[in-house]
Amino acid sequence: MALKKLVAGNWKMNGSHAALAELDAIAPAARANPAVEVAICPPYTLIAAAARRGDVAVGAQDCHAAPSGAHTGCISAPMLVDAGAALAIVGHSERRQDNHETDADVNAKARAAMAAGLTAIVCVGETEAQRDAGEAVAVVSAQLAGSVPGDASASALVVAYEPVWAIGTGRTPAVSDVAEMHAAIRGRLVALLGGEGAAVRILYGGSVKASNALELLSVADVDGALVGGASLKAADFVPIIEAAAQASA
Ligand code: 13P
Repeated sequence: MALKKLVAGNWKMNGSHAALAELDAIAPAARANPAVEVAICPPYTLIAAAARRGDVAVGAQDCHAAPSGAHTGCISAPMLVDAGAALAIVGHSERRQDNHETDADVNAKARAAMAAGLTAIVCVGETEAQRDAGEAVAVVSAQLAGSVPGDASASALVVAYEPVWAIGTGRTPAVSDVAEMHAAIRGRLVALLGGEGAAVRILYGGSVKASNALELLSVADVDGALVGGASLKAADFVPIIEAAAQASA
């Protein structure tokens, strides 16, 4: 099934209000390529201002599992909706590592995001040691089983496959390995969600840039990209949006 491609930028812990100029420079490309959905996930401090710009969907990089309460320093999914967000990344490998988030934590956050009306982008991916040990598909399958809410609808769920060793390294898996993993993820999603699993978009993330985007986005079951470093500058991000449009044509 050809699904509408989603190109989402994850700004991580980067950007002040001056960075919204990059968003303004991305907007014309988003408008010019309606076959592609474009989103930017800036830090919390920029979500409301980014959402007010209007042309590009805005996402968060995390959310708390509870809607409100005594959780100092945390942000809930309903607060993100209130600020204008439409999506939330959950279970990014940097949070799994830095904040010791488990699959159960990620599942609860994805549920909270969906309950608030956000699209949850659930991240999975193996470490280099796990790939070298031949465990990549098994690791990702277990992460999906633990992290994806069993009653998720395809419109509220996106899965991002981000091999940990490819993030910020300039290295990407062989196209054949991307194809194998995305096919395996598709199979697991259908097993977990039935017919809905066929319509969940599966993004590839990890060192996506202008020069490799078309090749990666042309792989079967690669329904978009989650882009870190190359999403910070419009000059780097716009060609990725255009590659997604070309791969969709
Ligand atoms: P890079 O594109 O910088 O490798 O980051 C990928 C990522 O972690 C997106 O969530």
